[in-house]
Amino acid sequence: MPARIHPPTPSNLRRLAAALRRGALVAVPTETVYGLAAHALDVRACRAIFQAKGRPANDPLIVHVLDLAHAEQLAEFNPAARRLARRFWPGPLTLVLPKKTCVPDIVTSGGDTVALRAPAHPLARRLLRLANIPLAAPSANLFGYISPTEAKHVTDGLGRRIKHVLDGGACAVGVESTIIDLTNPTKPRILRPGAVSAAALAKFLGRPVAQAPRKAMKGRQLAPGMLARHYSPRTPLVLRSPRGRRPDNVAGIFLRKPAGRTGRDIYWLSERGALAEVARNLYRVLRAADQGGHRQIWAEPLPAAAGGLAVALHDRLQRAAAKA
Ligand code: TXA
Ligand code: MG
Repeated sequence: MPARIHPPTPSNLRRLAAALRRGALVAVPTETVYGLAAHALDVRACRAIFQAKGRPANDPLIVHVLDLAHAEQLAEFNPAARRLARRFWPGPLTLVLPKKTCVPDIVTSGGDTVALRAPAHPLARRLLRLANIPLAAPSANLFGYISPTEAKHVTDGLGRRIKHVLDGGACAVGVESTIIDLTNPTKPRILRPGAVSAAALAKFLGRPVAQAPRKAMKGRQLAPGMLARHYSPRTPLVLRSPRGRRPDNVAGIFLRKPAGRTGRDIYWLSERGALAEVARNLYRVLRAADQGGHRQIWAEPLPAAAGGLAVALHDRLQRAAAKA
């Protein structure tokens, strides 16, 4: 049976929360991207996540919790981590910390740290409250493909592999959370850039925060799962200005709507170039361009040096364009 997209009625939320408690998989909206959620303390449920996504076992899962109090049941917090959680949760920040013994090995891929985040999306929070369990949830896409920011994106990829998708509309942020490793609180490290910038984190912590390497390294894992190639369309994607002449059947993705140009090979990420809008539209536009039957896609490179959200967007585009 293909997956059902459930509108977020109170009775559906109750039913889906109960299904999660029993070990079922439910795709859930968050403010960043849709996650494929399962009971984080149920080994079989977590194994089903890896199977549904085709995700390699060495790529650990993020665990979603309602708040800091619930997070402290799963990981050893230090004062810096507590401060960040109080300041940025609920929101698009994931903390990597030493795990407590209750967290099963399958969640952490056998490692001794766990990634935790309290999502801000009201539906994710209602499910967490109703289910009253921590939810392991990677992005709800087939491994390596573009992350889903709408319920329909989830069923496009996983429609035959899972049963339930909770519909929360389009995701407000649109790119995955910032991941910061605080295992050593004196040497905080960003593992994945996101909407919470390195500068904001450094300022708040009052110490430098090591940035994820700008350039994705081909074929190498920086941290578990941080592969050079990721978030990728099937159509070859090149980071190159689409402004000049493009060969036949090569689509162009512009940062802002190009004046006076239309056509089925023209896409844009924002009306006027606002980065929050680019982030919100990025994965939907990449998916649309990927399904447009083009030979190649040229995407306008982003000014990563602009800092903030531009760093995250540049990172995702670079990984989407990386060769296998
Ligand atoms: O915004 C998000 O973070 C979304 C929503 C659903 O919350 N989730 C998400 O999950 O992007 P996923 O699995 O697609 O990406 C999580 C990344 C992976 O690259 C994984 O390797 C890394 O987090 N990760 C998980 N646990 C880790 C750990 N203990 N140490 C280092 N990296 C970890
Ligand atoms: Mg993912």
